[in-house]
Amino acid sequence: MSRSRIHRRKQSGRRLEDDFSRRAKRDGYPARSVFKLEEIDQKLRLFRRGQRVLDLGASPGSWTLYAAQRVGREGKVVGLDLQPHSAALPPNATIEVMDVREIAPRDRFGERSFEVVLSDMAPATMGHRASDMARSYELFMVAMEIALTVLVDGGAFVGKIFHGGEFQEAHAAMKRHFKTVRVIRPKATREMSYEVFLCGLGKRPDAPVLPEPQPREERSGSARGSAESAQSR
Ligand SMILES: C[S@@+](CC[C@H](N)C(=O)[O-])C[C@H]1O[C@@H](n2cnc3c(N)ncnc32)[C@H](O)[C@@H]1O
Repeated sequence: MSRSRIHRRKQSGRRLEDDFSRRAKRDGYPARSVFKLEEIDQKLRLFRRGQRVLDLGASPGSWTLYAAQRVGREGKVVGLDLQPHSAALPPNATIEVMDVREIAPRDRFGERSFEVVLSDMAPATMGHRASDMARSYELFMVAMEIALTVLVDGGAFVGKIFHGGEFQEAHAAMKRHFKTVRVIRPKATREMSYEVFLCGLGKRPDAPVLPEPQPREERSGSARGSAESAQSR
């Protein structure tokens, strides 16, 4: 590709990103990532009124706010994140500050207590591709294990993962536990990002309830202030 063509592509990518950011602000969402969830929702018909939704990696709060609006007042959204949120949330939504890798989901929420589990968690990118991929895979698998514990039979899980590294293993695991699995890269994703969303619909009734994930002592893979997590919002 010629240099001027690369330049033009970068320019139009940036214009699209600015456009998403402007629209998010106009619509009252703190981050443009809301359009990723909106596209996934439009493709998969993820939400119904009255549902209970668990949102992992929820700050600054766009996905939580969007999900809360979609499930309505009779539904409920519980968000968890390392960092506090900035979105003004309606009464049916909360975001608590915590490391998702530290929670014991069965004790905290009980089994089969949510219809939808979302994870937009992203690791602190180190600029070393293999390490970034490994951290993303780890966060995805923690989220999937939580989903398998707390989802009702037939429930849905959407999880962010970097494409590369152990992506195929994660995809295969999803296929074992969900009737339908889709890989979606929403238009609002930054052009340079590796991220895609693995979406599982119809949690199989025979999906084993997995042992509680072990709390990790080493937290360096988390996304406090990370480049990719901040940029990917
Ligand atoms: C891309 S942002 C999420 C944006 C959010 N979905 C929204 O629409 O506002 C990724 C988030 O994952 C969170 N995160 C990363 N690792 C985490 C962990 N171990 N536990 C909880 N949150 C984590 C980061 O703090 C960051 O806020």
